[in-house]
Amino acid sequence: MHLTSLSSCIVLASAVAPALASTHSRSNNSLVEDLGFISQHWGQISTYSDNPASYFGVNHVGLPAGCQVEQVHTLQRHAQRFPTSYIDDGILTEGFAQKLVDFRANSSSSFSGPLSFLNSYKYQMNESYLTGIGANTEFTRGVDFWNRYGRILYNASAGQVSYNVNYPNGTARPKPVLRTTSQSRIRESQINWALGFFGPTYETVPVPKLTNYTDGDFFDLVVIPEGGTENNTLASYDSCFNDFLVGIGDLGDQDVFTYIPRYLQNVTARLQQYAPAGFTLSNNNTYGMQLLCAYDEWAGFENTLDMAYYYDYGYGNPTGRAQGIGYLQELLARLTHQYITVSNSSVNSSITNNSRDFPLDRPFYADFTHDDIIVSVLTAMSLDYFRDPPSLTEYPPNPDRHFILSKMTPFGGHLITEVIGCSEASPAAVSKERVQYYPTQYGYNPSNATHKFVRMRLNNGILPLDTLRGGACKGRTDGMCALDKFVASQNASYALSNYDYACFGNWTIANTTNGFDYDGTVHRGQAGILENTQPSSD
Ligand SMILES: *[C@@H]1O[C@H](CO)[C@@H](O)[C@H](O)[C@H]1NC(C)=O
Ligand SMILES: *[C@@H]1O[C@H](CO)[C@@H](O)[C@H](O)[C@H]1NC(C)=O
Ligand SMILES: *[C@@H]1O[C@H](CO)[C@@H](O)[C@H](O)[C@H]1NC(C)=O
Ligand SMILES: *[C@@H]1O[C@H](CO)[C@@H](O)[C@H](O)[C@H]1NC(C)=O
Ligand SMILES: *[C@@H]1O[C@H](CO)[C@@H](O)[C@H](O)[C@H]1NC(C)=O
Ligand SMILES: *[C@@H]1O[C@H](CO)[C@@H](O)[C@H](O)[C@H]1NC(C)=O
Ligand SMILES: *[C@@H]1O[C@H](CO)[C@@H](O)[C@H](O)[C@H]1NC(C)=O
Ligand SMILES: *[C@@H]1O[C@H](CO)[C@@H](O)[C@H](O)[C@H]1NC(C)=O
Ligand SMILES: *[C@@H]1O[C@H](CO)[C@@H](O)[C@H](O)[C@H]1NC(C)=O
Ligand SMILES: *[C@@H]1O[C@H](CO)[C@@H](O)[C@H](O)[C@H]1NC(C)=O
Ligand SMILES: *[C@@H]1O[C@H](CO)[C@@H](O)[C@H](O)[C@H]1NC(C)=O
Ligand SMILES: *[C@@H]1O[C@H](CO)[C@@H](O)[C@H](O)[C@H]1NC(C)=O
Repeated sequence: MHLTSLSSCIVLASAVAPALASTHSRSNNSLVEDLGFISQHWGQISTYSDNPASYFGVNHVGLPAGCQVEQVHTLQRHAQRFPTSYIDDGILTEGFAQKLVDFRANSSSSFSGPLSFLNSYKYQMNESYLTGIGANTEFTRGVDFWNRYGRILYNASAGQVSYNVNYPNGTARPKPVLRTTSQSRIRESQINWALGFFGPTYETVPVPKLTNYTDGDFFDLVVIPEGGTENNTLASYDSCFNDFLVGIGDLGDQDVFTYIPRYLQNVTARLQQYAPAGFTLSNNNTYGMQLLCAYDEWAGFENTLDMAYYYDYGYGNPTGRAQGIGYLQELLARLTHQYITVSNSSVNSSITNNSRDFPLDRPFYADFTHDDIIVSVLTAMSLDYFRDPPSLTEYPPNPDRHFILSKMTPFGGHLITEVIGCSEASPAAVSKERVQYYPTQYGYNPSNATHKFVRMRLNNGILPLDTLRGGACKGRTDGMCALDKFVASQNASYALSNYDYACFGNWTIANTTNGFDYDGTVHRGQAGILENTQPSSD
């Protein structure tokens, strides 16, 4: 959310990469020049790519015989955008660009070697908005969602490459309801995703206008305001006031600025020799250049983004669970066929108490949001696979760590919850992925599929629900968990978030850079928390 971005590195990359060919990296002189590879290690500003289904350690990735996906919930992140005006994003890139402009105004000295591209470099970015590349990513996500899930959920006919508004008998289907925040890049992501899912593609007579595929026609849209103090599960920090405070909401960013000198000091020193006299590179400048078009110390760069999110939105922040609990409550409400009529979190009950905005028992739900919300939802669920704090000191970081943001929330990332119906209570796990062309392909029969399961995926990787705290979902090797057990596993989630105290309590943090793992929550008397220490608001 608040944090970093970039797509425009792509713009710069072709110019920069060759120029860097002579740069010497710390221990290896051969520079990694494959931008396709590099751009998958940029944390939340990574280019989208599917994780292998077994990426998070689930080894049986097929759907058992007699089972089929019956409902899908997607929590879909926006895609490539310009940098935001955030402290460790646009502020640093714009600051560096301005420093160059100022220097050139007074000096004609040149950069040399791998930095000579800076002699003609001009900063070309706007702020915050979705880019064309981002629109393309979201459109592709919408197409993929149709191919993977729409075909099965809607029993598509051969060659049907997008949604049909009518049942086979010609009667109109109820319109799907999509939800988005009002923020430009989120809404634009929703618009492009919808164009991918709903059409226009296989019409026998081309449809010259896109209006059919926008809200109100093929689907309905709920736009939830973002940017104030309203309740919005898709931008939940807005209603969690403590998250606005320096020293609480920005714990991870503080860690980043402690780590930057550790891993970039030598790089800054090495690059300084290519800068003209009078232009002194700071570590922040080097980091700004990495944000602009990442350089060679990729492992350290990636780790800074992991720590920013772990300590701002995950287990490392006392408000981590509170920021994710709202969407989790909505997911559980949909899974248990209930409205939410009273809110005790970021849920806006005027949206969740009615069938127009929050219809139950629909084939799919698509909600458009920010990267941090996905991280916070996984935290609120206590999916302990991800309770693996990034080291604040180690360089290079442990390559086998679990919390790697590039794999969790790249541009266009999405958290999927599949509801699966099976004919047996304990269907045998299947090791290999099975492409499903039609619903009944592997023995599924809707009338005897009475045993319901949940399986979750993060960018295609099946999540290890057996690591949900408490063990309710232990026992299967394929990431499936009986629906009732999954729901039971979340019984304590709201209490654990300690929402009111986390978001509105009068407390501050004693040491904001000690890497303490708060388990995503805070309670009175907790070590490291100073009670009644917030400055008076008036
Ligand atoms: C240097 O890094 C490249 C790319 O990661 C790798 O293919 C190569 O084996 C490394 N060479 C040495 C000497 O470590
Ligand atoms: C150029 O240098 C002068 C004198 O050092 C300084 O006052 C001025 O602010 C500089 N201009 C820019 C754009 O940095
Ligand atoms: C960003 O784009 C808008 C138009 O879409 C323009 O008005 C604005 O000046 C631009 N801002 C920057 C920082 O380039
Ligand atoms: C799917 O559609 C086919 C006709 O194309 C029909 O024979 C079949 O019964 C349908 N299956 C389900 C599960 O609705
Ligand atoms: C058309 O099919 C849908 C779904 O099976 C059903 O709900 C609806 O009543 C049918 N309409 C007519 C006119 O038969
Ligand atoms: C698109 O919208 C127009 C105008 O509402 C309508 O006449 C046409 O049937 C629609 N086309 C499709 C493919 O739904
Ligand atoms: C920086 O260089 C020093 C001296 O060569 C070396 O001891 C240190 O390990 C390097 N630090 C990093 C993070 O590479
Ligand atoms: C680097 O940037 C951060 C954020 O703007 C700032 O807090 C910090 O003081 C800067 N570091 C230096 C050495 O200027
Ligand atoms: C917003 O959230 C608060 C709890 O934080 C709740 O008291 C309030 O009723 C909610 N408002 C709506 C409209 O749901
Ligand atoms: C469910 O239906 C399928 C397909 O009709 C059949 O092959 C299977 O034996 C049934 N399973 C059970 C447990 O009744
Ligand atoms: C905070 O903790 C870090 C790591 O333990 C330590 O280096 C630092 O001195 C502490 N800061 C304060 C203000 O106590
Ligand atoms: C927090 O508590 C302290 C001590 O009672 C009080 O002085 C301060 O005004 C409170 N801050 C807020 C924001 O209520």
